[in-house]
Amino acid sequence: MDNKPIGIFDSGIGGLTVLKELIKILPDEDFIYFGDTARVPYGGKSPELIREYSEEITSFFQKKNVKIVVDACFTSSSIALEHIRNKFKSLDIVGVTEYGARSASVVTENNNIGVIGTKTTIKSGAFQKVLQEINSKINVFSEPCPLFVPFIEEGFVEGDFITQIIHHYLDTFLDKNIDTLLLGCTHYPIIKKAIGKTFKDSFKIVDCGKETAIAVRNILSREKRLRKKSSGKKLTFYVSDDTESFVQNASLFLGQKIKTASLMFPWE
Ligand code: DGL
Repeated sequence: MDNKPIGIFDSGIGGLTVLKELIKILPDEDFIYFGDTARVPYGGKSPELIREYSEEITSFFQKKNVKIVVDACFTSSSIALEHIRNKFKSLDIVGVTEYGARSASVVTENNNIGVIGTKTTIKSGAFQKVLQEINSKINVFSEPCPLFVPFIEEGFVEGDFITQIIHHYLDTFLDKNIDTLLLGCTHYPIIKKAIGKTFKDSFKIVDCGKETAIAVRNILSREKRLRKKSSGKKLTFYVSDDTESFVQNASLFLGQKIKTASLMFPWE
């Protein structure tokens, strides 16, 4: 048994969709969430910056003595996972990219998978790499969707606006015969229903958060490091800017209200 908390981070608020899945699968664990709201979005930034930011945040979690770190940001996970694993060899670090890809490889029947994410995630080719390592017969069709994040954050999660944007980005998959779509960004589970409706559920949609949560549970269970009983204090939130709007907007992503968040500057 290991009663230390689990650390989870994202570029901002979107990683709460992954935390939501972790809470469901690991109800007795304590979590420390960090959202880098001062430096969000990561999605169009250079790999060098994303590695630097991810390293600073992981160092914070090391000081917090967490038992495992979940890199819930797809952009960071695609670009910086190997870097932070090399820098923090004693820490277990799990990334959303790899588990989402594993799940999609099992779900697909015709080996044609669509992947959507931020510009930096798609440019990194991270999903493609993992999918083709698993099965070289898999064809990956990728599309960056930079408008989804700001629209979702503004609350456009159903209706005409978001449907138009969904068409704008995803119509490209229509002649690719994909049977599986991989949601490669923290925010996209919020519009999973809208995507399914737009394309009349003509492909399966894989949401990486759940798969990552199952992977974390499997690691902790295998190593006998699960908590036995909830401590009752469960969730602690840190952000690098504007605690108030984080607290106000959290419920869209987490599915529950939160009371407080504290400031933390990983660069200090
Ligand atoms: N959290 C980011 C991701 O999953 C999306 C927001 C951003 O661009 O920072 O890639």
